[in-house]
Amino acid sequence: MTAIPLLNGKRIVLGVCGSIAAYKAADLVSKLTQAGALVDVIMTAAAQRFVSPLTFQALSGRPVHSELWAASPGAAGSHIAHIALAEGADLLLIAPITAHTLAKLAQGFADDLLAITALAAACPLLIAPAMDGGMYQNPAVKANLNLVQRRGVQLIKPEIGRFASGLTGEGRLPETATLLGHIRRQLGKGGALAGRKLLITAGATRESLDPVRYLSNRSSGKQGYAIAQAALDAGADVLLLSTTNALPPPVGAQLLAVESAEAMRLAVLRHAAAVSAVVMAAAVADYRPRHIARQKIKKAAEQLTLPLERTADILLALQAQRAESGKPKVVVGFAAESEHLLENARGKLQRKGLDLLVANDITAADAGFAVDTNRVILLDKGGGSQHIALTSKAAVAAHIIERIARLLA
Ligand code: CTP
Repeated sequence: MTAIPLLNGKRIVLGVCGSIAAYKAADLVSKLTQAGALVDVIMTAAAQRFVSPLTFQALSGRPVHSELWAASPGAAGSHIAHIALAEGADLLLIAPITAHTLAKLAQGFADDLLAITALAAACPLLIAPAMDGGMYQNPAVKANLNLVQRRGVQLIKPEIGRFASGLTGEGRLPETATLLGHIRRQLGKGGALAGRKLLITAGATRESLDPVRYLSNRSSGKQGYAIAQAALDAGADVLLLSTTNALPPPVGAQLLAVESAEAMRLAVLRHAAAVSAVVMAAAVADYRPRHIARQKIKKAAEQLTLPLERTADILLALQAQRAESGKPKVVVGFAAESEHLLENARGKLQRKGLDLLVANDITAADAGFAVDTNRVILLDKGGGSQHIALTSKAAVAAHIIERIARLLA
């Protein structure tokens, strides 16, 4: 886990209630802290029967709060614990929230530090219920959920699966990555791309050969997914056209699964006019089998020759559509090159009518396909170039999103 710029220095108050899922909150505190957030944990009395306050204190590096009648947690000028905690918080998340604390929230009860902090907090409030058995389906719980949502509380829906009791159903606390995604979505609101929608393509297209085989390439989709996450962090709405199901989609992205270059072309052209920017991070096949065999191709001759035909170039098609409609405002392409990087990349930028091109040397082992790091050059149509030294794909994505935000400003 690395630093997440969006979370750096953010003050997050995490309420933890008495559920077996409280142990998952410990992992969340760890990840948030590593990402750069300042996490103040408030535990209910019941939560302390499941996890020790020391666990959260060690992971957050900050005192853990539970006593309503304790002295101030140290904020200058304030002397009431719940006011100090609520004051200046960027976000209050209660994860897990139990049916009991939810009921208190719905009714405005103020009998412990967490309930009072929730009443006093002016920041966004997110709740992630965790309830065993059929509790989550109980009409009283549903009514309380509806009530608090109508007041602006945001619900992180529990997942369906196996409970600690051995029963299965809806009520499991989502994994840390999902909780983190919801936090990012909330904190990203009002960012540089707020109110904008981006279409991002990701992954390697697959061109069917027969019912069991396809032609594809080594792209993992990681850079495209990182760009989608960076766009969400900047407050954008994201339509992610993806060929892969091997990566978890970023929370908040609208995922549209596509497989072939042709399916991707149709989807890009259909949605392009409704977005501010298109980012073509996908590795699109240039050729596909001329025929898709209806039955599995059987092993027979010593050699097999497959006739291939060209696919349509999506960016060229988009360029033609954009010439008529003027939309989208910004188009970003990639160039995967194994030689003459700059020369080939410049050619692509011009030929495809791009505003920005991300040039990738795919021969380096630590950059490009499948790995988590990348080293790119951002070329713009004005002739400028920005070298981004070896860094995480997330950091490369943040640079690309920053450039898009500037182009859209
Ligand atoms: N691309 C596209 N449609 C295709 C092939 C590629 O829109 N049929 C897009 C890619 O998503 C990428 C850019 O074009 O943003 C450049 O892709 P790349 O594979 O580097 O180049 P090609 O145009 O395919 O040219 P070449 O294979 O000759 O390098």
